[in-house]
Amino acid sequence: MADKTIYLQVDEARHELPLLSGSLGPDVIDIRRLYAETGLFTYDPGFTSTASCRSSITYVDGDNGILLYRGYPIEQLAEKCDFLEVCYLLLQGELPKGSEMRNFVTSISQHVMVHEQLTRFYSGFRRDAHPMAILVGVVGALSAFYHEVIDINSKEDRYLSAIRLIAKMPTLVAMCYKYSIGMPFIYPKRKLGYAENFLRMMMADPYDDYIANPVLVRALDRILILHADHEQNASTSTVRLAGSSGANPYACVAAGIACLWGAAHGGANEAVLNMLEEIGDVSRIGEYVNRAKDKNDPFRLMGFGHRVYKNYDPRAKLMRQTCHEVLSALNLHDDRLFKLAMELERIALEDDYFVQRKLYPNVDFYSGIVLRALGIPTEMFTAIFALARSIGWIAQWDEMISDPELRIGRPRQLYQGVITRDVTNISAR
Ligand code: ACO
Repeated sequence: MADKTIYLQVDEARHELPLLSGSLGPDVIDIRRLYAETGLFTYDPGFTSTASCRSSITYVDGDNGILLYRGYPIEQLAEKCDFLEVCYLLLQGELPKGSEMRNFVTSISQHVMVHEQLTRFYSGFRRDAHPMAILVGVVGALSAFYHEVIDINSKEDRYLSAIRLIAKMPTLVAMCYKYSIGMPFIYPKRKLGYAENFLRMMMADPYDDYIANPVLVRALDRILILHADHEQNASTSTVRLAGSSGANPYACVAAGIACLWGAAHGGANEAVLNMLEEIGDVSRIGEYVNRAKDKNDPFRLMGFGHRVYKNYDPRAKLMRQTCHEVLSALNLHDDRLFKLAMELERIALEDDYFVQRKLYPNVDFYSGIVLRALGIPTEMFTAIFALARSIGWIAQWDEMISDPELRIGRPRQLYQGVITRDVTNISAR
């Protein structure tokens, strides 16, 4: 619904562009008829000024450090809910009542196993393959198991696809890890909670009992909640773009996983730990901070800065708190890398370069440290981010498919290549 109109003057002609208002956030200029009426495109690399869709799932106010899932502040969700309640909320739009939650948990627990044939995919990968490389493959392979049976235009089928994805991701991610260390897969246990089940599949071995530390289970659950969705970020936009053609949802999620892998996005938590290892000692922090500020040096401080948050990321605040809880529970406050991270945080937060550019530690700065304390190896960090974000991806995919305004995503370009020329035969070139 257009609330206001703005005018665009192109040569002698004056064009009307509707201004659309959301329930929160800046108004958006509706340019859908821009090309038809003016013959012009807009130019916006990185989509920093472009709203690609309407959405009611997640709202981020980066200037004020606010994150809402379906209207609920992330701080309250992290405090009062567990990850599966948040999954229900993101998918269904409302927090579940007791009986709805019980049914949801039952549905998830019925789908935690993966087809035994799928487990054989793993052995096709080199044993030292990066877990994200394996995850892109095995999640994509889910589409081979659930393709003809899914009618993406059926609400029920889309819901079932989401349930399957939420249920199977911990199993698939844990299998990536077990495969990489040459250990047998640990099958899921239906009676365990979501985070505990995942920790068990990661950490248990077949010859011993595994009892999870409740502080660690809660910390992992919180990591999952904080990473569950983040509106139209790069990987979510990738899932939407892939899905806009009507592709299989698991293939779309595999595309999202590929996008998440990059160090500028979900790969940052792994990059933070690698950076801390490289810095090695508190005495070398100054040198690395100077490198981060040097425009001739490509080095950036990993875990600092965010495209949207120009204030403290609310997730980083919560993760920082969890980080302290975990380190206390494990008596790890004297850990070398943790001490280094805290000193780096202090120096960067006081440094003019970071202050002026509003470069605060982001959620990945702390989640990497927590995951390390949980005993999870660095190369698994982004795979765990993918596990958490799967609900966001599938909820956004579901919203997109049910949107009457859905069209295949097809950006335009500013062509700056060679103007038409003729092909000569190879002998004459
Ligand atoms: N270290 C040093 N300088 C930085 C950093 C950093 N981590 N991040 C941004 N800057 C500087 C830029 O050089 C630029 O400086 P200039 O204005 O003098 O040219 C200024 O801050 C603005 O940076 P942009 O690159 O315009 O910010 P953008 O929004 O494009 O990038 C990004 C955001 C990619 C997250 C960036 O801050 C970065 O690379 N951070 C490190 C990687 C990281 O932690 N990623 C995780 C993101 S959170 C997530 O995905 C859940």
